[in-house]
Amino acid sequence: MRSLRTGLSLTSLVAGLALLLTAPAAHAADTPLRDLGAAKGKVVGTAVTGSKLTGTYGDLAGAQFSSLTPGNAMKWESVEPAQGSFNWAEADQIVAFAQAHNQQVRGHTLVWHNQNPNWLTNGSWTPAQLTTLLQNHIGTEVGRYKGKIAAWDVVNEPFNEDGTYRPTLWYNGLGTDYIAKALTWARAADPAAKLYVNDYNVEGVNAKSTALYNLVRSLKERGVPIDGVGLQAHLILGQVPSTLQQNIQRFADLGVDVAITELDIRMNLPSDSAKLAQQKADYKAVTAACVAVARCVNLTVWGFADSDSWVESTFPGQGAATPYDGNYAPKPAYYGIAEALGGTSTPPPTGGCTASYGVGSQWNTGFTGNVTISCSGASLSSWKVTWTYGAGQQITQAWNATCTQSGAAVSCANAPYNGTVPDGGSVSFGFNASWSGSNPVPTVTLG
Ligand code: XIL
Repeated sequence: MRSLRTGLSLTSLVAGLALLLTAPAAHAADTPLRDLGAAKGKVVGTAVTGSKLTGTYGDLAGAQFSSLTPGNAMKWESVEPAQGSFNWAEADQIVAFAQAHNQQVRGHTLVWHNQNPNWLTNGSWTPAQLTTLLQNHIGTEVGRYKGKIAAWDVVNEPFNEDGTYRPTLWYNGLGTDYIAKALTWARAADPAAKLYVNDYNVEGVNAKSTALYNLVRSLKERGVPIDGVGLQAHLILGQVPSTLQQNIQRFADLGVDVAITELDIRMNLPSDSAKLAQQKADYKAVTAACVAVARCVNLTVWGFADSDSWVESTFPGQGAATPYDGNYAPKPAYYGIAEALGGTSTPPPTGGCTASYGVGSQWNTGFTGNVTISCSGASLSSWKVTWTYGAGQQITQAWNATCTQSGAAVSCANAPYNGTVPDGGSVSFGFNASWSGSNPVPTVTLG
């Protein structure tokens, strides 16, 4: 009897443990960017890293965006590190993830002066050899993903700041015609993919963007396949070019699509509320310029979270350049994009929705758990709660939610009948699970 009592009191102690967390509630209640974009005829994308596509990062990449660009996985050094030896693993993974989430893929990039494999960079090649190498590279890579890539950044960064051609391996060996050749080979390998030339510092009207404009015009005159221009848009806080929309429009008037391909807006660290407010205005201005021109078809951020950005390692002392902070909470910049896409939601100044996890009863091999989603000053029309089990716990059955578990990762979404959580209300679901050794309470995320 005494030991039973001890057992019961332990159980009630466990039952009393509940972890209450403030989730990124603002985005949970908001229309995803991809849906806002669709209503405006815009695809909204992000660059991604394949190995990160799980947990919160994977959830956000899948839920918020309708296009993925592999940040590095399709670059030549990634796919052919040794000549004739290919590694498609990360690129394949990203393409599969995109297909599973009904997303487009922007292929990036086929012809560039950076991130080429050493064997290519250090080789000495005749023009004929360079031609064969480039034709085979494009044929192999574009052919592998034929039918799966919405658009290719065929040529990346061909110009100097003054509008002259950048002296690269390709330009030096093959002259300006490497661009026309690359586009023609890409078209042959996948006739359905839109073919782009992509560059940076070409967002406003300037010498470099005018060189890009003249290139596109001459390619079109010659009948070379060119479908679009990519404006990378690695911008600096407060420096959105005033001629951005005019520049997008002049390319559209040439008869090509325009994509904002690598948007980020960096600031001097540390960030503060004034800088974040300016960044919101800047993101909103860039998005609005794209919205204003029908042929601006895609707005892609170069990494969606500050913890996944190239900026801090590339521009010392600068960072905080993306729409989400390092904890995957949306920043004002996120709402700048959303508002320019017609979203009405703004982050609630107070209030929000939270999820709390509790253990109801526990026995030697199993336990019953419950999660309550509560809203105050906000509401939800659907919900998903995720967590990671730290000690091998395994869900066996759930009620009032649909739960899946993959390894340690658990994801529970509302049942058809209980997605709505009104302001001031709550919804709960329950589950049975197994445990052994220990049964620590996980951190739950509402998203
Ligand atoms: C960057 C990646 O984000 C980094 O991870 C990598 O170390 C360097 O390249 N312009 C481009 C992108 O076209 O491919 C670059 O991506 C950023 C600048």
